Amino acid sequence: MAAEAGGMASQPAMWNSFANMASFAGRALTIVRGEGATVFDEAGRPYLDALASLWYCNVGHGRAELADAAAAQMRQLAGYQTFDSFSNLPAEALARRIAGLAPVPDAKVFFTPGGGSDAIDTAAKLARAYWHAEGKGGKQIVISRAHAYHGMNAYGTTLGGIPANAEPFGPLVTGVEHVPWDDAEALDKLIGGLGADRVGAFFCEPVIGAGGVYPPPEGYLARVQEICRLHDVLFVADEVITGFGRLGSWLGSGRFGLEPDMITTAKGLTSGYAPLGAVIVGPRVAEPFWRPGSAEVFRHGYTYSAHPTGCAVGLANLDLIEREQLISRVAALEPVLAARLAPLAEHDLVSEVRAGTGLLAAVEITADARAADPGIGPRLVAGIRDRGVITRLVGGSALQVSPPFIITEQEIDRIAGTFAAALDAIAGSS
Ligand SMILES: Cc1ncc(COP(=O)(O)O)c(C=O)c1O
Repeated sequence: MAAEAGGMASQPAMWNSFANMASFAGRALTIVRGEGATVFDEAGRPYLDALASLWYCNVGHGRAELADAAAAQMRQLAGYQTFDSFSNLPAEALARRIAGLAPVPDAKVFFTPGGGSDAIDTAAKLARAYWHAEGKGGKQIVISRAHAYHGMNAYGTTLGGIPANAEPFGPLVTGVEHVPWDDAEALDKLIGGLGADRVGAFFCEPVIGAGGVYPPPEGYLARVQEICRLHDVLFVADEVITGFGRLGSWLGSGRFGLEPDMITTAKGLTSGYAPLGAVIVGPRVAEPFWRPGSAEVFRHGYTYSAHPTGCAVGLANLDLIEREQLISRVAALEPVLAARLAPLAEHDLVSEVRAGTGLLAAVEITADARAADPGIGPRLVAGIRDRGVITRLVGGSALQVSPPFIITEQEIDRIAGTFAAALDAIAGSS
């Protein structure tokens, strides 16, 4: 059937993530260039990137040395598979480097190509494979939390604690249970009720990110790790956002004194200059597969696992973070970001500012304001963007702040001031 004029044929061909494509026309913001904490659209208009894209462009935009590292590796060996006995030098070096940074002794590193969702699928499958290899194949249940975001592959969609993200797809993965995000004893109770012989792993973000930026309650993480140990359940930290510096330490697990059985990472590993994820695997989970004489094979991997170009970019990115001491910069900016955003909590439209763990924050719009005007969140985001700052809604109700580590105090001021101006404009117009 011929498409009508003004119908689908006149729309763009690209289908965006998490977007209503029916209303897309006229809303596209095409980013063509980036430099530092700023990105530019097709018309050359600058925007301060309060998101570091999607929590990942930690070293800032336009870093030529990362482009050079990719180009040099591509000229040498752009890609080669790592199934069975094949290996490559950048992947070997990056695995050693990550293992050395992890707060886990003798860590092994399994690379994933697409980012965090692949890392989550890998960790979930490895948890089940581990128990199978240990002769405890009944320990199949995986537990995660309300508000959690663990990516959009099948495991991550099911593990996630944001109901709207799972609801249209029907059951994807069986044997997944959820607990409240802030109640360690609820985890203890759930494992007790299900039977520890049926529970394999607990997944948890040290700071919940896409679900709304929720730092953990005091003592929560240490207690859930302890509960996992008591019940012989694997403790998996999803550090796709918090890994590689965002909390002012190499890994968030280090900041909170955790020693997870597995840590999933992605985003900040390459600052997004190439897609790459890594599952950091502690000795317990690795042992049945690596023990001399073992016949166990983790029958899992991707065409682009341990991709040499991605790994070369990862190495150059970690070099840059180290050389410019960006992790101590995050630690120094943590109180600055919290202090500059704090006054927004006094605004009539704001119920809470969540900040104080690294360069991560959220400004929560009051439930009353959202109930009275369901469009208020998107209008605030648009108002902030019209004033030259990019943010978005997380958890459906809060404005996200997760800037590149190279952001300046003046730029942080600008984020806070722009949020205030957009909030005032909306409060004044209602
Ligand atoms: C905590 C967490 N886990 C997993 C993912 C999925 O990562 P990706 O989108 O790179 O697949 C994300 C993405 O935001 C995340 O925040």
